[in-house]
Amino acid sequence: MSIRAVSTPNIAFIKYWGNRNEGLRLPAADSLSMTLDRPTVEVAVSDAGEFFVRSFGLDGGERTLTEKEIKRLEKHFLLAKKYLESIGAAGTFPASVSLEIRSKIPKSVGLASSAAVFSALAEAYGGFVNNLSRRDVSVLARLGSGSASRSVFGGFSAFVAGEGEALGSAYAEQIASENHWELWDIIIVPSQEEKNTGSTEGHALARTSPLFEARLRDIPRRQKMCIEAIREKDFGKLRKVAEEDCLDMHEVMKTSTPSLNYLSDETYRIVREVEELRAREHLAVLCTMDAGPTVHLVCEESALPAVQAFAHAQNGCTVFEAKVGSGSRRV
Ligand code: DP6
Repeated sequence: MSIRAVSTPNIAFIKYWGNRNEGLRLPAADSLSMTLDRPTVEVAVSDAGEFFVRSFGLDGGERTLTEKEIKRLEKHFLLAKKYLESIGAAGTFPASVSLEIRSKIPKSVGLASSAAVFSALAEAYGGFVNNLSRRDVSVLARLGSGSASRSVFGGFSAFVAGEGEALGSAYAEQIASENHWELWDIIIVPSQEEKNTGSTEGHALARTSPLFEARLRDIPRRQKMCIEAIREKDFGKLRKVAEEDCLDMHEVMKTSTPSLNYLSDETYRIVREVEELRAREHLAVLCTMDAGPTVHLVCEESALPAVQAFAHAQNGCTVFEAKVGSGSRRV
C-alpha cells in the first residue's frame, strides 16, 4: 500500500520560538500563521520491511540526504507510530515505511521546506489510519517540525501550545479558511544568504535570552489580537501585531547565547524601503522574517501591484510569489 500527499509552507504572524520539550516539539507558547498555496512538497509513503528514504529536487534529480536528515525523518516516523498507539489507532499502521519526498521548493527561495515535508508526511501517515481527526494529523506533523502542524490547515491556523508532556498536548487548529481573506506573500530573498543555525538548534537557545520570559508573558495578548485581526480582516491590526512579534522574536534570537543574527543588512534595507513605500502610497503590506534574511511582504490584493513592482526592482534578489493556500491533503 502506498499513500501520497502534498503540502506547502506557511508564514507565521506570531512566531513559534522556544519549546518546553525539545524532543517532542512541545512549544513554550502559541503561534499563528497563514498557509501558502505554493511551492509544494509531495510525498509517497509505502509499507516496507525497513525504514528507507529517497528525496528528489525541483529538477527531478535525486538528492542525497545527510545522516542527520534521515535520522530526523526516522525519529518522526517512530514518534508518529507512538502517538497513534497512544490513541489506540496504530492497528493498521505499518511496522516500517519507505518514503519518497519530491520538493518543488527552489533552493534559492530561502523558504524552509520542513513545514511542508512534515505536514505532507503526517497527512500520508494519517491515511493508513481510519477516521483520524485534523487535530491528530496536526499532532503528527508537529512531531517532525513544530511549524508543520499549522500547514495541515488551509487559510489561517493557530498552533496551540497546551500544557503538560503528553505527545498530543500541542496541536494546531484553523482560525479561518483560505476563502476568508485573500492575502498574498511576496517573498524577497536577498542575494547574500547568511550562514545560519537551523530552527531546531535555535529553539533550544531561546531560554538563554534574558528577553524570553517577557516574550512568553506577552504572547497570549498578541495571539488574541492576531486572531481578532484575521477574523475582522483588519489589516492595520494584523500588521501592528505581526511586526511587533517578529521584531520581538529577533531580539530574543540576538540576545541568546550564542547570539543568533538571522537578518542581514539587505533585510534591514528592504524593510526600511517598504516602510517608506507604504507610508507614501498607503499600502496594506506588512514585513515579516523567519530564521533567515528572507523578507516576506504579506499584503492585501489592493497593494499587490505596487508590492510586486517593488520586489522585482530589488537588484540581485530572488522573488517568489504565493497566496493563502488550502493546506495539506492526500492526492
Ligand atoms: C522562525 O518549525 O522550523 O520559522 O520544529 O525545529 O522544525 P522545528 O522548528 P520550525 O520553527 C519555526 C521557526 C520560525 C517561526 C515560525 O514559523 O513560527
